[in-house]
Amino acid sequence: MADLKPHLKGVLRPDFQWGYATAAAQIEGAWNADGRGESIWDKLGHTPGKIKDSSTADDACRSYDFYKEDVALMKSYGVRAYRFSLSWSRIIPLGGKDDPVNPKGIEFYNSLINELLANGITPFVTLFHWDIPQALEDRYGGMLNLEKYTPDFLRYARVCFESFGDRVKNWITYNEPGVYSLAGYAAGVHAPGRSSNRELNEEGDSSTEPFIVSHTELVSHAHCVKMYREEFKPTQKGTIMITLHGNYSEPWDAEDPLDIEAAERAREFEIAWFADPIYKTGDYPASMRAQLGDRLPRFTEEESKLLLGSSDFYGMNTYTTFYVKHKKTPPELTDHLGNVEKLENNSKGVSRGTESDTYWLRTCPWGYRKLLNWVWNRYHVPIFMTENGTTAKGEHLDTPPADPLNDTHRIEFFNGYLNALASAVKEDGVDIRSYFAWTFTDNWEWAAGYTDRFGVTWIDYKSPERKRYPKRSAGVIREHFEHYIAKE
Ligand code: BGC
Repeated sequence: MADLKPHLKGVLRPDFQWGYATAAAQIEGAWNADGRGESIWDKLGHTPGKIKDSSTADDACRSYDFYKEDVALMKSYGVRAYRFSLSWSRIIPLGGKDDPVNPKGIEFYNSLINELLANGITPFVTLFHWDIPQALEDRYGGMLNLEKYTPDFLRYARVCFESFGDRVKNWITYNEPGVYSLAGYAAGVHAPGRSSNRELNEEGDSSTEPFIVSHTELVSHAHCVKMYREEFKPTQKGTIMITLHGNYSEPWDAEDPLDIEAAERAREFEIAWFADPIYKTGDYPASMRAQLGDRLPRFTEEESKLLLGSSDFYGMNTYTTFYVKHKKTPPELTDHLGNVEKLENNSKGVSRGTESDTYWLRTCPWGYRKLLNWVWNRYHVPIFMTENGTTAKGEHLDTPPADPLNDTHRIEFFNGYLNALASAVKEDGVDIRSYFAWTFTDNWEWAAGYTDRFGVTWIDYKSPERKRYPKRSAGVIREHFEHYIAKE
């Protein structure tokens, strides 16, 4: 049941956008249909031993085939907006600036966008959600090569603005640049699968590559925004932003100055790594430079200028909170966290929250509210929530559950987080303008395969049409927004 607080009625602005977020590689399927090229996630999925349940995203949720049914279902959930990503290799199969555009790819996204608009749903479109064309990885090492990569990314973005920008007014350049670089180049468990761990990956250097790749994402983002603002915005009149990941870090011992410092350093390594260059200083945080020295690339003066102010809003993805404890030993070369330990319980033995079906994710609404305040107070930029959600234990069933599924853990999660959001707006004065729950249907959760179900819609992966079953949380989220959003 929705836990609606009477004092939070009507606290969100009348034009508040809400709905669900997805990513192409996780839902579309049709991986080689209609001229689509291979992405690094197709390659990883087809490499034995890389995905938890040995699955691939070849068919995923088949949303490429069933997008009309999906739009109808979303409409029945009452959404105002839908955030999805474009598959670069569906649009330009080989990815590069001189490579041919695939008309069928353009046609698919045109149909999806038109279907959304015909149903009164506003599209929010992400250009890059982790699936770089494999051909670019093979040609020059993808984002490890800033000079070669940037023109290719800009040309891809140009094709998207030209093809869809007459109808798409909300653009996102990158989804979670930090997770792309950390999971792909530090841990080596995500595509393209590089790290210093030779038992896991043949190539890579976790002490340098994540910082190089992130630098490429930041600089190419800035160039992309400049292009949009100069060449497209005057006529298309849309907005453009970047979406950053960031969970909250709370001191393990709230009385220990070293833990208080460590928690702030952890927030800087995770969030300010990207947000300071864009919203605050045009440069990386001093704490990162102090620990990483020359392993952290440097921006030219021109790049700094381009970066500062290069996102119209703060796109926020967040899921959970950790307790953070300082370390007494010097940082290791492969450290990306700011030399801290991340813990489940604090010094008094209090847990950070109820467990989900995902090892890193626990429900922690108070941490979410602190995070919103931290970001707002540091950057003073309106926040668009672009992802937030959870898995729930016991949903990884083989056969369809009772219909509709009573997903109480997820309902509690959304009750907590949505009331925290509305309270942050009303009581703390944080400017929040959208909320996209992660996610619309269960989907291919990257290296976890189909085992982690994040959807408000349960999917029967055994049925050829990937039959969808609404969970109760879909109705609960709707009730919340009907309660919070002020009538015009
Ligand atoms: C990503 C999603 C992912 C979700 C849950 C976010 O980091 O953007 O693609 O499925 O978290 O892990």
